Amino acid sequence: MCGIVGYVGTENTAPILLDGLRRLEYRGYDSAGVAIQSGGEIALARAVGKLRNLERALEANPIRGTTGIGHTRWATHGRPSEVNAHPHLSGPVAVVHNGIIENHLALRARLVERGAKVVSDTDTELVAHLIHEKLREGHGGLEDAVRRALRELHGAYALAVMSRDEPGRIIVAKASSPLVLGLADDATYCGSDIPALLPYTRRMVFLEDGDLAVLERGTARITRLDGTPVERPSKEIDWSPVMAEKAGFKHFMLKEIHEQPRAIEDTLRGRLDRERGDIHGHEIGLSEDDARSIRRVFLLACGTSHHAAMTGRYYLESIARVPTTVELASEFRGRDPVIGEGDLVIAVSQSGETLDTLVAAREAKERGAKVLAIANVIGSAIPRMSDAAFYTHAGPEIGVASTKCFTTQLANLLMFSIWLGRRRGTLGDADARALVEQLARLPILMKDVVGGTRQLVMNVAKRYRDARDVLFLGRGLNFPMALEGALKLKEVSYVHAEGYAAGEMKHGPIALIDSAVPVFVLMPKDRWYDRTLGNLQEAKAREGQVIAIATEGDESAHAVSEDVIEIPLVHEALAPFLTVLPLQLYAYYVADLKGTDVDQPRNLAKTVTVE
Ligand code: G6P
Repeated sequence: MCGIVGYVGTENTAPILLDGLRRLEYRGYDSAGVAIQSGGEIALARAVGKLRNLERALEANPIRGTTGIGHTRWATHGRPSEVNAHPHLSGPVAVVHNGIIENHLALRARLVERGAKVVSDTDTELVAHLIHEKLREGHGGLEDAVRRALRELHGAYALAVMSRDEPGRIIVAKASSPLVLGLADDATYCGSDIPALLPYTRRMVFLEDGDLAVLERGTARITRLDGTPVERPSKEIDWSPVMAEKAGFKHFMLKEIHEQPRAIEDTLRGRLDRERGDIHGHEIGLSEDDARSIRRVFLLACGTSHHAAMTGRYYLESIARVPTTVELASEFRGRDPVIGEGDLVIAVSQSGETLDTLVAAREAKERGAKVLAIANVIGSAIPRMSDAAFYTHAGPEIGVASTKCFTTQLANLLMFSIWLGRRRGTLGDADARALVEQLARLPILMKDVVGGTRQLVMNVAKRYRDARDVLFLGRGLNFPMALEGALKLKEVSYVHAEGYAAGEMKHGPIALIDSAVPVFVLMPKDRWYDRTLGNLQEAKAREGQVIAIATEGDESAHAVSEDVIEIPLVHEALAPFLTVLPLQLYAYYVADLKGTDVDQPRNLAKTVTVE
């Protein structure tokens, strides 16, 4: 959702801004623009649609200058159009903004009454007018004007502001929306996310809510809104720029599906204690006493992360025997839930910035619960507000539809459950060793499954690419995988799909089944196997086209299915890591065959910072 980049340095800024925006494309957007300080003026270029259009506008009318701000907009206030695209200007002031200004109606009325000429439908333009007004009233220059304007704004924002009259300077401020600074010797950068800045610097500073920073070439001076100086230590980010490139794959999604063995390996590294059958828990940030005294766990998440959280409940209950609830963060917040001291909230979020998850976790914390974040982006908002953070190490995930972040979340949830189970005495030595051993083998198994099933899944995708509806059924640990299979397909190929608990099929979705409906049945050999096989037969009896995802050598699956996609026999806790892989591939291939925008599906955003 909305991407911001900014650059103050010595190089020509337009290509740097465009490159940064391209690296933020995955966040989702529908228009884009840049403002550049050029020859004592601020020159503007904006375009609706993909960045290519902005690039063309800049080719037709090049703008040269060494300080600039850029933006990709995901429409909230006002439709996607050039006039609504950022940057917005008022007098000497140019502004880009990510977030929502909640008091925009009152602000608009006040500004118009005082003579501002508002031309767009956006809340951001009002910010530009307000800063301009403060600039006219005061004598402290842009920094002071931004500071005074911010006092009148309610809501979420990451802002970057420039003035024609203050060359070589960008003012940025943050409240709830993400903003990262990048420091180099001869330049300072800002961006909504790490990948935008990676090719230029690895030295990053994460701003806190309520921070304002003045960026000049090679420096960033950070203060609180009231002017008090603060130190925010810089962090070296170990993601390489190459990790955020396609490496010969047609799409990021396909690359990221293939990267999962590596992502899991990185996520497990240094955390498995194979000798003792335990997890090295120092990063988890909870004490042994905490582990023993936790009363209940609440898993909070949205979207794909919610499916990982649903799987996490099985792990926590069966391995650590702790009562666990899974909640959609958007439903949990504001519901007045019964939660407090002794409860642990695990907020699961690849971006670490999803607003609903952030607010839900904050509400739980205010009531006395401890919060543990499972996130992929170091220093992002959710880990920052949490008591502890247990990071996944998937590397940058660029495809909007989450794949490698999902399986690394499963890995962290399983590791956490083992750690907890050991401390609570619910997981014995032999079981623990077996689990840890299998976890260690997971990267190889995942690699075999991706490589070994790819061709078959592509053939299945070719056969069913025009199916109007697709069903995914699973039980137990594979029920969330059925939901995830359906979500992936919806997200990237726009095909209607339903994920169902296999036992629920006869309470509704069975009515959908006929010879035109492909039904994926997830049925690894586990404690639910026999019942799932029964459901497969029910689907078959209604002429459904059954594609089984089953354990190697499962004759029954072969006897009743059109296709069987095989996975190796593993401990049942590990099966979801494998069953989900062909589902991700299926969604990808159908989308590719249909020619959709796989990495940036319509209407979706990678980081959802609105409610
Ligand atoms: C968006 C993304 C999904 C993601 C969800 C939750 O909808 O497109 O891929 O699962 O947000 O995001 P989070 O960053 O909290 O995991």
